[in-house]
Amino acid sequence: MKIAIDGPAGAGKSTVAKAVAKKMKLNYLDTGAMYRAAAYAMIEQGIEPSDHEAVLAALPGLSMKIVYENGAQKVLISGKDVTPYIRTPRISKGASDIAVIPELRLMLVQLQREVANEYDVVMDGRDIGTYVLPDADFKFFITASTRERAKRRYLELRETMPDADIDEIERDIIARDKTDSTREFAPLRQAGDAVLVDTTDMDREQVIAHISNMISGAN
Ligand code: DC
Repeated sequence: MKIAIDGPAGAGKSTVAKAVAKKMKLNYLDTGAMYRAAAYAMIEQGIEPSDHEAVLAALPGLSMKIVYENGAQKVLISGKDVTPYIRTPRISKGASDIAVIPELRLMLVQLQREVANEYDVVMDGRDIGTYVLPDADFKFFITASTRERAKRRYLELRETMPDADIDEIERDIIARDKTDSTREFAPLRQAGDAVLVDTTDMDREQVIAHISNMISGAN
């Protein structure tokens, strides 16, 4: 069983994907965390994720591994768990910038397909239904208005960043949507056979129930 969940930044994909995976006893792969970890690895070496040439030169030295600890996914870079450091606005932008680079994408897509070959998975990202797993059993495209997505990110960020600003978050989200959906290679796009779920007026539990019902109803 392969389930693809795509959608723009802050639509709540990972929360839903995680919950659906748990409910259906499937593995969960957060592919955004892989782009984030790649951006983090470059920044650590003093390389700007938007610098295509410099990223290309550093790619052979990039060693990424996905491991699961008590069911939670961790991304290792050269053996170090970078998961705690990849949820900052700087890394969000860096991930979107680095994700434009086809050579980097191909490397991460290969890892993603290896995981899908080995396990039943729920995978979330931008290009899962269109490119990574075109034959997925179920495909969902989860979205919400930009304001609602900014509000959700703000509530999340506020715990660690008390001075977070909702308007700035919304501007970042709009910029990220643009980079993600206008890149040439495997852009953010709803697959023709994906079910669109607009979560603007739904809470987390409603979205999880809605998607789980569609999956179990079809089985
Ligand atoms: O889902 P996220 O916000 O953690 O993803 C971070 C960035 O990574 C996102 O702006 C674009 C990129 N990404 C991608 O290009 N393809 C994916 N499958 C997942 C993420």
